Amino acid sequence: MKFFSTLRSVLRFRKFETDPVARRLQSVASVSDLRNISKRRLPGGVFDYIDGAAEDEVTLRRNSEAYNAVEFRPRVFRDVSNISVASSLLGKPLSFPLVLAPTGFGRIAHSQGELAVARAAERANIPYTLSTLGTRSIEDIAEVSNGRKWFQVYVWRDRELVKEMLERASASDYEAIAITVDTAVLGRRERDVRQGFTLPPKIGLGTIWDGILHPGWTWDFVNAEPISFANVRGKSVGDGSDPVSLAGYINSQFDPSLSWSDIEWFRSIWKGPIVIKGIQTVEDARIASEMDLEAIALSNHGGRQLDGAPAPFELLESVAQAVGGEIEIICDGGVRRGSDIAKAISLGADACMAGRAYLYGLGAAGEKGVDFVLEHLKEGLVRTMALTGAASLEELSGDLVRIRDK
Ligand code: GLV
Repeated sequence: MKFFSTLRSVLRFRKFETDPVARRLQSVASVSDLRNISKRRLPGGVFDYIDGAAEDEVTLRRNSEAYNAVEFRPRVFRDVSNISVASSLLGKPLSFPLVLAPTGFGRIAHSQGELAVARAAERANIPYTLSTLGTRSIEDIAEVSNGRKWFQVYVWRDRELVKEMLERASASDYEAIAITVDTAVLGRRERDVRQGFTLPPKIGLGTIWDGILHPGWTWDFVNAEPISFANVRGKSVGDGSDPVSLAGYINSQFDPSLSWSDIEWFRSIWKGPIVIKGIQTVEDARIASEMDLEAIALSNHGGRQLDGAPAPFELLESVAQAVGGEIEIICDGGVRRGSDIAKAISLGADACMAGRAYLYGLGAAGEKGVDFVLEHLKEGLVRTMALTGAASLEELSGDLVRIRDK
């Protein structure tokens, strides 16, 4: 019968994927899809800690919207048969212009936590930044990755502790430190306030119910060793083995008196490059450049600190005009696609930084999810360059983008 022969000719069954994680990834096309899976798989408080930001989350939204407000001016008839996205930062090569941002508490998204992210970064040949508040230690990361490693520094009131951490980072071959300067006090993350969220997540009646509703996460969480702030394990500052509210912890432990004059102290205890993460004005970018720092990351901490802070992508052009070529500029916040990276490079960034994007991958599919995100961003950058007529990062210039008419 015609019906059956036609049907037979069009039916194509996809081979059944036996690995559940690979199966989950089969229907993923974007970072936003991974965010949706994370939302389903992670307990509400954990997802909100990752996904949420300060107060009304205006800055969080604007970080991404800023990219959407810019469109390309694609050029045609340009030979794009050989596209190179290879780049360099702090004098060393990277396979494409992206640095993985520090994010605390990686193990709440997946038991492998920061180890999975560091391994994926090494495979992708891009730098990984370990957070001071990581749930894997400086040494744990060095054990699994020979790739480029940066260490993010929060400055504790106890300066001896900072010094000791930097000595450990140096002994473990970390290449650079990134000092976070936007956290004099913790921003008010109201999703966490509402949930009474602590780190590690407290197990109470509500959480037990949440755990039952999210069995994949719960199984992974309870089968792993307990979470703590691995870099300060056993120290008097408290290592998070008892649940703490992040605001209480940071506001009591971190030094709000930090100022530009401390850079000299950092130079005396750290011999490698210094990146200042959290620059939010042209004036501060200029100071960093005049102090001969190696790089700045324009960042508002993913909208998690000051709601109402400017979107880094919107600041980029004026900062690049003021200090481009004198200090390297990294644009953090809101990156979800390779085309975002293309836009940032066009307006003068040397690289982008992304945090939530890989955490969505980690929460949705562990290490394979992180691999997916890094490949997706790189491929997206290559495709965007092909479609805009740029064969190399040098050809991504301000001529290729413009602010969209409203
Ligand atoms: C920690 O740095 C956070 O933003 O939660």
